[in-house]
Amino acid sequence: MLTVPPYDVLRQRRSEKWSGLAPGVIGATVAELDFELASPIAAVLHEAVDRGDLGYAPGVSPQLRAAFTGFADRRLRWRVDPDQLTLVPEVLIGLIELCRVLAPGGKVGFATAGYPPFLLQLPAAGFAVRHLQLRPDDSFDLDRLTAELRDGLRVLILASPHNPTGRVLPRAELEQIAEVCAEYDAWVLADEIHAPLVLPGAEFVPWLEVSDAARRHGIALTSASKAFNLAGLKCALVVTASDRAQDVVRRLPFTADQVGLLGLLAAETAFAEGDAWLDALIAQLDRNRTLIGERLPDGISWSPPQATYLGWLDCAGLGLAPDPAAFFLREAKVALGAGSDYDPAARDRVRLNFGTGAEQLGEILDRMASALAS
Ligand SMILES: Cc1ncc(COP(=O)(O)O)c(C=O)c1O
Repeated sequence: MLTVPPYDVLRQRRSEKWSGLAPGVIGATVAELDFELASPIAAVLHEAVDRGDLGYAPGVSPQLRAAFTGFADRRLRWRVDPDQLTLVPEVLIGLIELCRVLAPGGKVGFATAGYPPFLLQLPAAGFAVRHLQLRPDDSFDLDRLTAELRDGLRVLILASPHNPTGRVLPRAELEQIAEVCAEYDAWVLADEIHAPLVLPGAEFVPWLEVSDAARRHGIALTSASKAFNLAGLKCALVVTASDRAQDVVRRLPFTADQVGLLGLLAAETAFAEGDAWLDALIAQLDRNRTLIGERLPDGISWSPPQATYLGWLDCAGLGLAPDPAAFFLREAKVALGAGSDYDPAARDRVRLNFGTGAEQLGEILDRMASALAS
């Protein structure tokens, strides 16, 4: 059911992952999937183009309300109020604009290692950014959070599941985060873009299902874009579960027509008709996770992710710092994410995007092993 196009076709893609690579290089960087689109999504996009239907999006459609609440209920055990959904063009811009509403110029924190645009774009948007270093076992550091709250932190951006570690935060940890943020009257923006991609063995807990404190002090953001490879279509959702949070969202500067119409149509279809494709994807990612565990070259270690298609690889045993990604690009012709983009201290790390077929992943691992052997 899932097909990866041949490399010569992938290299014709114009998206970030596959453009700008030197000849022969395999892209395994930015979080895009190599698989062909789910066929119901491809069909709805083709039909829209055939109709010449590329105008402004009309706002949250009844179809999207029904599709997303159904998906959340079926797959995430999350009862979403269909009247508390708001469209934004993307999760990142939604997070930044919510921070502007909640804490203009104030202190905003997130766990590091973290998604690189948090490190770059939040300071550029004028916030005093606080890096909450994850513990050595990748768990969230609640003591550190409490200290930052005491010091005036206004907003915590919580990537759940986390990128780049792929960790799924357990309910007890989420409850504690909600409690301590409520105590200091701070907000949590739960970035749940990777939630549809929880792999076998882990259980995702939606932020807005955690507790009353979480609902009063939190806002969730999500999108079909990571799970269904639609990032270029610019359509994401902000979800609330309290009047207090809805009041905040009403102050966002967006109008609904700033999202992409194709993104809206694709999201409706993904959430309503994408289950079979998503099941096949999750099964493939699970097999890929096993493959990496079996074939990771000596000297590289990892904690297998509980969600998504990102491997946070520790290359400390190889002595390739400060830039193991540059080594693998040069010697293996494999483009990986540089650890220091996720955390200035993570110079021994690389991030491997394993959202590809088993054969392609095998080639990536073979190339890395051969480069190390020579
Ligand atoms: C944790 C996290 N948040 C946000 C995004 C970006 O989402 P969007 O393209 O909707 O801004 C990503 C993309 O990989 C991500 O990993």
